[in-house]
Amino acid sequence: VIVTGRIEDVRRARWGDPKLSWGLVPTMGSLHEGHRSLVRRAGADNDRVAVSVYVNPTQFAPSEDLDAYPRDPERDLDLLQRENVDLVFTPGDEVMYPPGFQTEVIVREVAKPLEGASRPDHFKGVATVVAKLFNVVQPSRAYFGQKDAQQTVVLRQMVRDLSFNVELVICTTVREPDGLAMSSRNAYLAPAERTAATVLYRALSKARAAYEQGERRGAVLRRILTKTIAAEPLARPDYASAADPDTLAELDYIGDGVLLSAAIFIGKTRLIDNMLLTNGSDF
Ligand code: PAF
Repeated sequence: VIVTGRIEDVRRARWGDPKLSWGLVPTMGSLHEGHRSLVRRAGADNDRVAVSVYVNPTQFAPSEDLDAYPRDPERDLDLLQRENVDLVFTPGDEVMYPPGFQTEVIVREVAKPLEGASRPDHFKGVATVVAKLFNVVQPSRAYFGQKDAQQTVVLRQMVRDLSFNVELVICTTVREPDGLAMSSRNAYLAPAERTAATVLYRALSKARAAYEQGERRGAVLRRILTKTIAAEPLARPDYASAADPDTLAELDYIGDGVLLSAAIFIGKTRLIDNMLLTNGSDF
C-alpha cells in the first residue's frame, strides 16, 4: 500500500497505468464496518482502490465537534492494509487548503433543507473538499454511504452540474445488531445514551411499517417519527422528514418514493439516519 499526503504521489500512482480503473472511498477516518463495506465494494468494482483519510475542517461549524472528532490513524491504516487497499491519501490542511486558498463549491437548493438548515455551511465544505479529492485522485468511481443521504444528493448534483467524470456509487447503511447506523460519532455515546440512540432506527422502522401498510401522507409519516423520538427521554429531536428523494422537498403525498430521515441530539451528540423507500422497500 502507498500511504502519502502528497498530491504528486497520488497522481503518479493513479496514472502509472492509465488503463486501470480506480475506486475512491473518501473518509474522515475513524473507520468502521460502514467504511469497510465501501472499500470492499470499491475493490469488487475496480482494478485499484484509493481511500482518503482527512478530517475536513470546513464542513464543521465553529460550534461543532472538529477538535473532538475521533482520530485513530494507526488503526485506520491497519484496517486498510488488511483490506488490500492500493493507496491511502492522508493530506494535511496545508495540502488541502494551502495558503491563499479562496475557491468554494456551493450547491444551492438541495443543500438547504434538513442538514443544511441545521448546519448552514456544512455542504459547502463537503462539496469543496470532495471536488478537490476528485481532482486529485481522478477516480473512475467514488463510494459513499446512504447513511448521509443528503450528502449523496448534494454530491450527485455537483457531479452533474460541473461534469465531473466520475460515477457515484451509493452503498447501503451498515447497522449494529440493534439497528443503530454505524457512525464514527457513536463513539461519543455513554452506555445509557447508546441504548437511547436506537430510537432513531425504531422511529424510521415504525414509519416504514406504516408506509408498507399503505400510508402515503407525508404529515402522518413525519408525525410517527416525531412521536417515537419524543417518547425517548434522552433524545432531543432536530428534524423529522418525509421528502422527495431527489429534490428533498417535504411531501404532502407520496407517489414514487420517499426519503424518511431524522436527526436527533442525545446529550451533545448529534445523530442522523434515514430510510429510502421505493415501491414499499428499504434501499
Ligand atoms: O462522509 C464523510 O465522511 C465526509 O463528509 C467526506 C465525504 C469524506 C468529506 O469530507
